[in-house]
Parts: sequence; C-alpha cells; structure tokens
Amino acid sequence: MVTQIITAYNNSPSAVTAAAALLRAGECVAFPTETVYGLGANGLDEGAVAKIFAAKGRPNDNPLILHIHDFAQAEQLWTDIPETAKQLAAVFWPGPLTLIYTAAPCVPAIVRANLPTVALRMPDNEIALHMLRAAGLPIAAPSANSSGSPSPTSAAHVMDDLNGRIPLILDGGACHIGIESTILSLCTAPPTLLRPGAITREMIEAVIGEIGLSPALLSPLQQGETPQSPGQKHRHYAPNCKVKVISGEPSAVAARICELYEQSGQRCHIAATAENAPHYTGKQYTTLGSRGNPATLCANLFSLLRAADCDLLLMEGIDTSGAGLAYMNRVLRAAGFDGERV
Ligand code: TXA
Ligand code: MG
Repeated sequence: MVTQIITAYNNSPSAVTAAAALLRAGECVAFPTETVYGLGANGLDEGAVAKIFAAKGRPNDNPLILHIHDFAQAEQLWTDIPETAKQLAAVFWPGPLTLIYTAAPCVPAIVRANLPTVALRMPDNEIALHMLRAAGLPIAAPSANSSGSPSPTSAAHVMDDLNGRIPLILDGGACHIGIESTILSLCTAPPTLLRPGAITREMIEAVIGEIGLSPALLSPLQQGETPQSPGQKHRHYAPNCKVKVISGEPSAVAARICELYEQSGQRCHIAATAENAPHYTGKQYTTLGSRGNPATLCANLFSLLRAADCDLLLMEGIDTSGAGLAYMNRVLRAAGFDGERV
C-alpha cells in the first residue's frame, strides 16, 4: 500500500474530504490532534477497527478511545451521562481529556477490548474536528505509532512507523501538547486518574472535587496486580536505547548525571533541563526546556526519544505536581522504571 501525506494546514477542505471519504469507506487515516497524531477508523465498524490493530501491531486486549466532535454523540456511546462528565466536558472539551464510562450496546467489543466501558474524547484541533464532522462518525483512534514506540508528534514520525501500512496521513504540523490526553475513569467513586496529561489532577479537582490516582502512574504494576487500564501493562515509549532517570535536588542530579556519563563507557546522551544545561558543556545533550515549565518538557519529549542516537539516555527527574506528573509518568515508563534518587 502506498501511504500518501496531504498537507492539511489552513483546514484545506480537499484534505479533510479525502480523509472523511476513506474513513467512511472503512479505511484508516492518521490525523493530527493537539496531543499526538491519531490513527483513526470508523469506531462502529469492527472490520475498520481491526485494521488499526493490524497496522500498529497493537495487542487486541488494549482498548481504543472514540473521538467525537459533538457532546450529543456521548449520549449514543455511553449508557447515560454522569453529572461529572457534563461538568468536565463543559470546561475541558474540546481538549486533552479522555473520559471513561459504561459503553452503550452500539460500541463494538473490539473497540472496548471486551471491557464494559468505553473511552471518549473531543480533540482540540481544527483539522481533527473538521474531519470528525465531515465523517459524521465516532472515530476510534490510538496514537499513530507502531505499538510500543513513542507516540508520534509530527506527520514524519507517523511515516517512520506506518509507511506502507495505511493509505493516508493528514499533515497538520507539530502537535503542540506532545503527550497523550489525560485519562479519567468515571466508573469509580471518586473518579480515578488512569493516565496523567496536560489537563492536570489539580485542574480536574477544581471542577469535580477530589479524585483517586491509579497506583501505576509512577511505579510499575506489582506482580499479580490487575491494571486499571490495559495500556498500563504494555511497554510504552521505548526508544532504541537504555534510559535512566535521576531525580532529586537539581544540582545533585546534574552532578550524578555527569558521573554516570563519564563512568558508563557507552555512548551517552543527556536530556537536560535549561537550568542544568550549563553543567553539561562538552557532553552530548539536548535541552528540553525549563523545569519550571513541564508543558515544554512534554512537548519536546517524544521527538527526543525518537531521535536519541546513543546507548544510554540520561534524563533529569522533575517535581511531580501539575503537568510534572504527566512528564514523569512518560519518562519513567520510557526508562522501564529505571530511576535513581540522589
Ligand atoms: O491523546 C490521546 O489520547 C491520543 C490521541 C490520538 O487522541 N490517543 C491515545 O490513544 O493516546 P492510545 O490508544 O494510544 O491510548 C489510550 C489508552 C490506552 O492505554 C488504553 O489502554 C486506555 O487508553 N483505554 C482505552 N479505553 C479504555 C477503557 N475502556 N478502560 C480503560 N482504559 C482504556
Ligand atoms: Mg498509544
């Protein structure tokens, strides 16, 4: 199969029309969102959804998010609408928040991976919203990477992973958030944060009060522990090198990273914060942004994980409040939870 890339900046109507036609015909299309690129297909068509799993090499026990453009679609896809969903959608949709609730009978089992629940999200990206409107369907879409690798934040990343496996990529430029949406389950009381993202725990709690945190956000699942979200048990964000995370007081972190860099005898690269970058002069490093602004660190993270050309990537840990929780969740998972505190 030949994979076509169409530039979809400025809401190019022909790009969106081509994508919607393919989706309606049961094919897959990669498209930009504000978080990462998604690989979409008709979420009500089992055959179309099966093509997503095949293109990504995704385990079939890992359910998909249905993307919608209108809150009224949630009424069709969930059994009913909990009050918390209305409150959160009013504040955060369209936006990087995925909500999980009991699925209506029309949602195919393959989308839910046989769970009784379904995840819904309304992306905050004009190209995605135009495409969803033109297709007139809920669109199942995981991140458009091959399973296990870092999520794609540009059309070129999607091409690297899925060239020849899908017919079309809509190129909408770089995704400005750069990590996947926050996932909140509304099936528990209080709701449970299953994956942290740009919509932070603090932002959600300001709307609906205290929420629970999945125990698997910053540490691996314990033996025998059932994941609250199937994605938690799969390896994620794995670059082609080993990753180690050093956390603690910033200057001690820099000192330990320099020590590991010099002792390792391997080709090392450092993912630096702007504050610590001066400590790494003469070494191979990339500055991701300021520790005071985790959103920038998140935006640059997956490009670095994809580009890292080294044996050992040494990463600085940061504070886990606000968007720092999402950053540390991705970094620790990329490292297979190989972390050290100094
Ligand atoms: O930002 C995003 O959410 C992107 C863009 C494309 O929208 N999508 C995305 O999808 O990251 P994916 O499939 O890569 O990650 C979805 C995660 C998986 O870990 C999956 O296990 C979990 O959501 N998930 C989906 N449905 C679920 C459900 N019913 N219950 C629990 N977890 C669910
Ligand atoms: Mg993914």
